[in-house]
Amino acid sequence: MLSIDGRALSKEIKTEIREEVDRIRANNGNIPHLAAVIVGDNPASESYVKNKVKSSDEVGFESTVIKKDENISEEELIEIIHGLNNNSDVDGFIVQLPLPRHIDPDKITLAIDPAKDVDGFHPYNFGRMALGIDTYLPATPYGIVMMLDRYNISTEGKQVVVVGRSNIVGMPISIMLAKKGKVGNATVTITHSRTKNLEAQLKKADIIIAAIGRANYIKAEHIKEGAVVIDVGINRVQDESRKRGYRLVGDVDYEDIKPKASYATPVPGGVGPMTVTALLMNTLKASKNKSK
Ligand code: GUN
Repeated sequence: MLSIDGRALSKEIKTEIREEVDRIRANNGNIPHLAAVIVGDNPASESYVKNKVKSSDEVGFESTVIKKDENISEEELIEIIHGLNNNSDVDGFIVQLPLPRHIDPDKITLAIDPAKDVDGFHPYNFGRMALGIDTYLPATPYGIVMMLDRYNISTEGKQVVVVGRSNIVGMPISIMLAKKGKVGNATVTITHSRTKNLEAQLKKADIIIAAIGRANYIKAEHIKEGAVVIDVGINRVQDESRKRGYRLVGDVDYEDIKPKASYATPVPGGVGPMTVTALLMNTLKASKNKSK
């Protein structure tokens, strides 16, 4: 089996972005500026946002983090979003999910100016994605598409089984892989918690995209010989042998499927770094759109 090295690939793409930012700087152009809003103290969210800022720094972007207490009201958060919408220094921004229960994530997403929605979550951008019109693609699906593309893994005519139907991964990646295009033209099955006989679906898959949030759920016995397995899961499991008391594992039992798969993504070091890189690509695009 070949391991898909998301870290190496993301480094390669970040070098390309850095070169472009250097060119822009040399031309006295607009340096891309990404802002992230984080609410509360969710450790996973804090770690993701930290990674986004670190990667922004690496490619020469400006970045701003706005951190708010978890008691912030929905109205106050929307005020912050309006401020970012109107701040011409900021090219793109994200509101890290999940949000506290008293805040409706749909209202928050709707408040974001679609031109600055570098997560690609706004219905306007989601709609454009579904119609195949140029837009910001949601970061995780975009990262997966870049991975398949750069590893020359063909999706044309393949049976793709997506496990999970979330708005940020399962649903958009299903649409993107079914559409016409170089990474596309696949026959896609979306599976979820109400799917009957998931095992039979998985067994027929040439490509599996696992995005369910269950540690080590997919095993060798579930997959076809030679399948490509893309693992979107990032699950914390207790591990007292680690200093921080946990380790990260995917939705796929990587060691178990290794002898049977043709390609697979490890966790960590697979899809995760590509998600961040896709966000950078969208921010670069936002910045270029602005200076047009
Ligand atoms: N939470 C988990 N994934 C994401 C993401 O891609 N963007 C945002 N904003 N929040 C997330």
